[in-house]
Amino acid sequence: AAAQVGAQGPAAAPSSSDASGLPPIPAERPPFFLGVATAAPQIEGAVAEDGRSRSIWDTWAAAHPENDSPNVTDDFYHRYAEDIRIMQTYGIKHFRFSVAWTRVIPDGNGSTNAAGLGFYSRLVDALLAAGIEPVVTLYHWDLPQVLQDRYGGFLNEQIVADFTHYATVVFEALGSRVTYWSTFNEPATFCVSGYGSGWHAPSLRDQQGEQGYVWECHNNVLRAHASAVREFRRLVPNGKIGMNLAVQWSEPRSDSEADRAAAERHMEFELAVWSDPVYRGDWPASVKERNPRGLMTITPELAAALRGSFDMYMLNFYTAKYVYYLSGGWGMAGQGVIDAADTFNATNGASIGPETASSWFKEVPWAFRKQLKWVSDRYNRPVMWVTENGVAVPDSANELLPGVLNDTYRINFYRDYMQAAMAAISQDNVDIQGYFCWSLLDNWEWTSGFKERFGLVYVDYANNQARHPKQSLAWLSRWFGLSSGAA
Ligand code: NOJ
Repeated sequence: AAAQVGAQGPAAAPSSSDASGLPPIPAERPPFFLGVATAAPQIEGAVAEDGRSRSIWDTWAAAHPENDSPNVTDDFYHRYAEDIRIMQTYGIKHFRFSVAWTRVIPDGNGSTNAAGLGFYSRLVDALLAAGIEPVVTLYHWDLPQVLQDRYGGFLNEQIVADFTHYATVVFEALGSRVTYWSTFNEPATFCVSGYGSGWHAPSLRDQQGEQGYVWECHNNVLRAHASAVREFRRLVPNGKIGMNLAVQWSEPRSDSEADRAAAERHMEFELAVWSDPVYRGDWPASVKERNPRGLMTITPELAAALRGSFDMYMLNFYTAKYVYYLSGGWGMAGQGVIDAADTFNATNGASIGPETASSWFKEVPWAFRKQLKWVSDRYNRPVMWVTENGVAVPDSANELLPGVLNDTYRINFYRDYMQAAMAAISQDNVDIQGYFCWSLLDNWEWTSGFKERFGLVYVDYANNQARHPKQSLAWLSRWFGLSSGAA
């Protein structure tokens, strides 16, 4: 650990020597807990079992046969006990997973399917028995297809009542055993990509925002969140809840006042548009000025229901982009987000950081630190959880056993991002209490199928989904002092 600077933290990690040739363990141990994150449609498989109905992503996959399928993926539905043992071996004590609406209420808003709910009940029991805290996401993009067909999914306000009903069923079933919850995962992603650009399920397009789809979705998600949290307070009075918000840091492309203001506006459109209503009772001014067709209104009742509805700020963070001023024309054209002039545009500027295996994603730990400070300063230092961060490894040749298990690249990535978070805590007064790696397992990465492997554990899809922990899992476990790292 000789190379580590500023390493006189109170909790020194035991040892830095490493015969394996892996990067040394930094002397200063992170002051937040280490968790791992997953999502039902990416890991469970068993898509036709125990009464589960089709989700909009099953439909998407069926329409893209060239892409890998989520039908089996990690087969977590049958193998969760083994995955819990792996977490136990490495001392992981927080597991984030999502519940599939399609299992619990297959008809979207009809009666409860005891077999589907039973799976999550057994999973929670098994986690608790292993000393692992379950962290439950209610919605990770897998809308029951029937609700899309019946009324347009998130474009219809009926979703508010149906989501609330679904959430209530899950709160009643698991609320006495599960403390930590999230309503929606990355609503910006599924509203913009699902109902604007059409890249994601349900593949609706409103690229110039003429229909206002993205904003209808936004509106209904916020209202569904507020309504579900109201039930949560009643049913799970000691629980904690939030929403997983994702953002890509907006770095001004130049130092000009115009570009800097554009970058700030971009941050407001992407992130504050979700959390300002919760912490400040209204949209950001920049969004209000450009509010397309006045689609979204925050009534006093909605503002009141949203206030206090985040017990912690849950942030998913990966990357950054350059943002610049755009005079006239369309901001974020092609995504249905803004139809006003004088906005901004973004570029995935190649030079913003080193490449990763994902085309959308560069390695930018410096941006992570800025992002954490931005959130903390704007909302008066909320408790923060990083509910996702991670990386797929770029060299596809390395994606084969046994080389892939030696994932020094991922180790360095986590070391750099986590040290950026540690600097945000010690130098920027940010309160980060938890940090979840995306992901425990290699899994079905949506439109990228199995090509992008984000796991701390390798999954051998060709050989019965066999699990092989990667070095990164052992290394992180040692850094956090959770185990000897030798499984
Ligand atoms: C965001 C999503 O929540 C998750 O489902 C996805 O796999 C990761 N980021 C990586 O792209």
